[in-house]
Amino acid sequence: MKVSPSLLSANFANLTPEIEMINKSSADYLHIDVMDGVFVPNISFGFPVIKAVEKVCEKPLDVHLMIVEPDKWISQVRDCGAWLMNVHYEACTHLNSTVSRIHQAGMKAGVTLNPSTPVAMLEDIIEDVDLVLLMSVNPGFGGQAFIPNSIKKTRQLRHLIESTGSKALIEVDGGVNESTGKELASAGADILVAGSYVFGAPDPIERINILKSLCK
Ligand code: DX5
Ligand code: ZN
Repeated sequence: MKVSPSLLSANFANLTPEIEMINKSSADYLHIDVMDGVFVPNISFGFPVIKAVEKVCEKPLDVHLMIVEPDKWISQVRDCGAWLMNVHYEACTHLNSTVSRIHQAGMKAGVTLNPSTPVAMLEDIIEDVDLVLLMSVNPGFGGQAFIPNSIKKTRQLRHLIESTGSKALIEVDGGVNESTGKELASAGADILVAGSYVFGAPDPIERINILKSLCK
């Protein structure tokens, strides 16, 4: 299993030791949650913070934009050194064009689905994306309870990917812990995002190792 700890649950008053912990951990990526107070009822942080994080972080940045009109910010996200730019399906009127522009900017393109958006909405884009991020909570806050229907959605997405020959990875975000992580692994997830489960623990490195060891 690949693991992407979410910076949203880190100590914002002292980020450097948190990122250094991620650097020496077995985490594969660092998940960065950008919120605009419009697409979601919360505001997190913006590009100046991500740029500062990128200078310290040795793991690829997995940037999750919970914002309206994400197309406007493609070059800024690229300039932050992002490996992957995740945009919400619900925020993109012309998703095909957004995905092409993310690729042209030299980043991997991810599409995110809210819990109430069916996997079937991706049928005509699945072969063009590098990753699908399934939200297993309503986006906006860390520490929420996992929505059980996300297991079924993960299975449906795995089926869609296999039936089309798409190379997209499946990432799941929200309420991930050892028990929900196990179920997601057997449903076909490739990457688990975890915020409070990792950063809220006395030994975050151990928590990352627990998620890393989960198998399909
Ligand atoms: C929520 C964010 C998540 C959040 C997950 O809107 O997209 O990445 O950090 O936090 P936990 O793992 O605590 O549910
Ligand atoms: Zn996220």
